[in-house]
Amino acid sequence: MNLLQPTREILARTAQYLRDGHLAVLPTETVYGLAADATNPDAVAKIFSLKRRPADNPLIIHISSLSQIDQFAAQIPDTVQVLAEAFMPGPLTMVLPKHPSVSEMVTGGLNTVAIRMPDHSACLAVMELGELCLAMPSANLFMGLSPTNVNMIDSEIANGVAMVIDGGPCSIGIESTVLDLTAEPSILRLGSISKAEIEQVLRVSVSEDSTVRKAPGMYRRHYSPRTKCTICSSLGPKDAGLVFDRPLNETQIQMPNNSAEYARQLYAHMAELDAKGLDEFKIQAPPETVEWAAVWDRLTKATA
Ligand code: TXA
Ligand code: MG
Repeated sequence: MNLLQPTREILARTAQYLRDGHLAVLPTETVYGLAADATNPDAVAKIFSLKRRPADNPLIIHISSLSQIDQFAAQIPDTVQVLAEAFMPGPLTMVLPKHPSVSEMVTGGLNTVAIRMPDHSACLAVMELGELCLAMPSANLFMGLSPTNVNMIDSEIANGVAMVIDGGPCSIGIESTVLDLTAEPSILRLGSISKAEIEQVLRVSVSEDSTVRKAPGMYRRHYSPRTKCTICSSLGPKDAGLVFDRPLNETQIQMPNNSAEYARQLYAHMAELDAKGLDEFKIQAPPETVEWAAVWDRLTKATA
């Protein structure tokens, strides 16, 4: 794997590779992404084949400046400015009516487009240096765990890209909140920015609709380790898995009681358990409170 530290020279070289139609793996604050120039359909097509991702599963376009939204969205509601002030850059993806110039390759044939500004200096620098906007799904094979550090990147992905930039462990650890703004605001994917935070900023109530019909990439099973796993109230002395209690053996990993810290560590620990070649592992259920909604969403999908 062509793993590189994010020096200015390397970031400029990465930007040039992307401009030339190659792919790169880049860090973001949520998870690592598999990037291509969003305005180059041939480059974007490589993302789908490398990830083995169905063509109807739309990609998020990443921008480095709010003014770039005009290139991709046909209409920009006032809510965008309000949300941008509160959450950009950051883990919020906005779904807007698609500009006719955006390739259907990016939007999976939809007439809407998803846009976000990642909060990671290396990723922003690549876009700025290359004057690029990036189509960028999580850098995992279809259905797998999103990588939250470079060690989690599958060799098939790493070998298919020009370079992998090591930005360290991701600070958020789960994928961005996806918010549909083409009608009444509606959350299509839960993330670290909560429904309550969005409602507070917009001063309207926000619904939740993470059905496959609204967001084609939302499958019942997703973000899954290879090992079979289930959620349970507590683990026995022979069980492997993720616990809040004190571990009873060395295959039990103690998780934090804070939901944001839990989210940050979740995928890396599931990958660690995967590497042990177990028949199955268990996950001790977190509290059923709103702070844990995004974690519950990922755990439900991982265990489906
Ligand atoms: O945090 C993130 O969002 C990461 C980092 C790399 O930015 N990216 C990410 O991308 O999670 P991906 O492709 O793994 O998931 C994007 C999901 C799609 O599966 C789809 O469900 C939803 O966003 N999406 C994208 N475009 C959409 C659209 N036009 N309408 C509805 N949902 C859309
Ligand atoms: Mg993904």
